[in-house]
Amino acid sequence: MPIFIDSSDSKEIKELYGWGVLSGITTNPLIISREAPDADLGERIREILAVSWGDVSVELTTETEHEMLAEAAEYHKWDPTRITIKVPFSETGLRVLHQLVKKKVKTNVTCMMALNQAYLAALAGATYVSIFSGRVRDMGYDVRPVISATRAILDREGLPSKIIAGSMRHMMDVNEALEAGAHIPTITPPILRKMVWNPRTIETINEFNTAWRTRKKK
Ligand code: E4P
Repeated sequence: MPIFIDSSDSKEIKELYGWGVLSGITTNPLIISREAPDADLGERIREILAVSWGDVSVELTTETEHEMLAEAAEYHKWDPTRITIKVPFSETGLRVLHQLVKKKVKTNVTCMMALNQAYLAALAGATYVSIFSGRVRDMGYDVRPVISATRAILDREGLPSKIIAGSMRHMMDVNEALEAGAHIPTITPPILRKMVWNPRTIETINEFNTAWRTRKKK
């Protein structure tokens, strides 16, 4: 079960890839606008590619089919084996997805909140279908049935799309997405770091190391 990191910060990504638990990266225009508003997108993504392995999702920011396909072609050139075009879900998004799938470009259909959306994206051949856990919860709904029903239908129909659970706000979102059947949680650096931390673990390690340092040799 892979974990992706939801970040565009190459320093943070390099550090966290050192843990051996990550196998891909997701970015979006909001993340990059917040982390590096002045950055050149191509440079920022190339920095990420240089310190990582696996798929790197880059999201389209234009809104017509023609513009989106041109934008996708530009991003795809940065690394045709690893760049995954993040396509915002809509009628236009489905048309763009269909064109990209025909060209065998990897795709991540994004901003989805519901089973019907994820099912359509999977039928159209998306590599990944991204369900936004936190944003579903913001609307007052439980996201677990959305993830579990999507997983059940993908499995039943033999559709190869993988479910990415994004928009994680708490550690419990990660656990619940995994239990509900998400293939890949994409996790922000602060939440990934919190997954390591447990006060009882720290206390236990300190107890063991103190015992070793203060042992009385016979
Ligand atoms: C992941 O692919 C998404 O871009 C991301 O998790 C969205 O998170 P947000 O709802 O916190 O913006």
